[in-house]
Amino acid sequence: MAEEIKLKKAVNKRRTFAIISHPDAGKTTITEQLLLFGGVVREAGTVKGRGSNNFAKSDWMEIEQKRGISVTSSVMQFDYDGKRINILDTPGHEDFSEDTYRTLMAVDSAVMVIDGAKGIEPQTRKLFKICKMRGIPIFTFINKFDRDAREPLDLMNEIEETLGIETYPMDWPIGMGRQFLGVYDRFNHRVALTHPTDPEKPYLPLGEDGMVDGDNPIAGEGEWQDALDGIELVEMAGNEFDEDKIAAGDQTPVFFGSALTNFGVKTFLETYLKFAPAPSPHKQEAGEAVKPLDSEFSGFVFKIQANMNPKHRDRIAFVRICSGEFTRGMDVTLERTGKPLRLSNVTEFMANTRENVETAVAGDIIGLYDTGNFQIGDSIFTGKQPIKFEKLPQFTPELFVRVSAKNVMKQKSFHKGINQLVQEGAVQLYQSYTSNDYILGAVGQLQFEVFKFRMQNEYNSEVIMEPLGKKTARWIDPEQLDTKMASSRNLLVKDIHGDPLFLFENQFAESWFKQKYPDVKLTAKL
Ligand code: G4P
Repeated sequence: MAEEIKLKKAVNKRRTFAIISHPDAGKTTITEQLLLFGGVVREAGTVKGRGSNNFAKSDWMEIEQKRGISVTSSVMQFDYDGKRINILDTPGHEDFSEDTYRTLMAVDSAVMVIDGAKGIEPQTRKLFKICKMRGIPIFTFINKFDRDAREPLDLMNEIEETLGIETYPMDWPIGMGRQFLGVYDRFNHRVALTHPTDPEKPYLPLGEDGMVDGDNPIAGEGEWQDALDGIELVEMAGNEFDEDKIAAGDQTPVFFGSALTNFGVKTFLETYLKFAPAPSPHKQEAGEAVKPLDSEFSGFVFKIQANMNPKHRDRIAFVRICSGEFTRGMDVTLERTGKPLRLSNVTEFMANTRENVETAVAGDIIGLYDTGNFQIGDSIFTGKQPIKFEKLPQFTPELFVRVSAKNVMKQKSFHKGINQLVQEGAVQLYQSYTSNDYILGAVGQLQFEVFKFRMQNEYNSEVIMEPLGKKTARWIDPEQLDTKMASSRNLLVKDIHGDPLFLFENQFAESWFKQKYPDVKLTAKL
């Protein structure tokens, strides 16, 4: 009984979320601020390769730094206000969407960062769709109000129209750019000033009538009047605050601020923590969903990352715990093979260090040092009842290259590199049906570039990549397959499970095929 209460308390403290945004909207800057509040980092500029940098750097980060993009997601944990927060960072660049999609399967809510001047950008739209699919709550932070931004009402409309979600502005900006004076905080009944005359008093309390109690240093400013007009409008015509809708992902609380000047981020964090859900049940492929307070331990691998630390050429499988309690050295079953495994070499993720973890519960992410046991999507569990979590989303790649080792004498490192990077989900691997050539598939071109860079840097294997261009991948039932169906317009290949598929040159080639073989069923992944 005491154990149950302890577990319940621990699980209810967890808040696990991902930050999604279009590149450059300010995700890294916000993450840094959050980590500052959590006391995990002491100065800004620690997360990305900016300024003084003691974040676990690794080879693949070099490519991120060169290009200024974040390639893979990392995990950060800290305590704040009695809660244990797990932030899962996601790559902003669309070429790495697959990685982000998988990460979104491992969180209970998402924070969407939007650039106030740009509004909804393509990548945000795409990622948002996945959040919607999962029905997780989404909290919105509209950033960069210290610069000229779009009208707040216009931004609200855009979110509602393009994303199909209700908005509830938790606060409202008072001016923007150089005249960004603060926000009218509806939720906390106060005005927060960007430049308070007394730094000890950054907030002005609001009275029942919604006006500032006592002296209001910005009362004479036009921006104040505009903000009041805006507030009046959303009070009258806007949505009602609805916690159930928020929990179902049908309404998003919206906050305005400026991450760079650290304005609005703390209020955002504190309010977010009031409404963000504790760990929720996770669906299985069949049978009942697994509840966080179930006593048996379970979790799934949503990401595999090799060589995070160039000093130790290690490989880590990231596991989202879904139920029970993890303890060091515990024995679990790997569902895919049915084999027992002992979890002794495990790490948890603080922002800039990797510490050994003793116990962890639902909502937490642990990293298992992996010697090749795990694949993305694997379930692990204790107890007699097997647990198999829902499949992670897999995407039908659109771009293909034929790949081979430049130096034929170095086949061993070539194969090792390919196998590991494919298991990580960096690219998808196919083999030509007839010649056994290696063909790589990706959603975005940058995936190939990262692959090439990592093959060279981590596996000392120079590769030759021959572009095959854009293709439409369609799987075919092996029973229906006749190798004679392959032609110059459709390359017949097999995936890593040995399942056959055609890579069609274009839409026309696919239609032609369908006409010729009307009984053959072709399927796409996602
Ligand atoms: P990302 O992770 O979403 O890609 O964005 P990141 O935080 O790296 O921010 C992208 C750029 O936007 C950075 O500038 C950052 O300083 C700036 N930025 C972030 N938040 C704000 C904000 O609230 N206001 C303003 N004005 N700028 C903001 P950069 O020039 O690309 O990088 P750096 O030279 O500052 O490192």
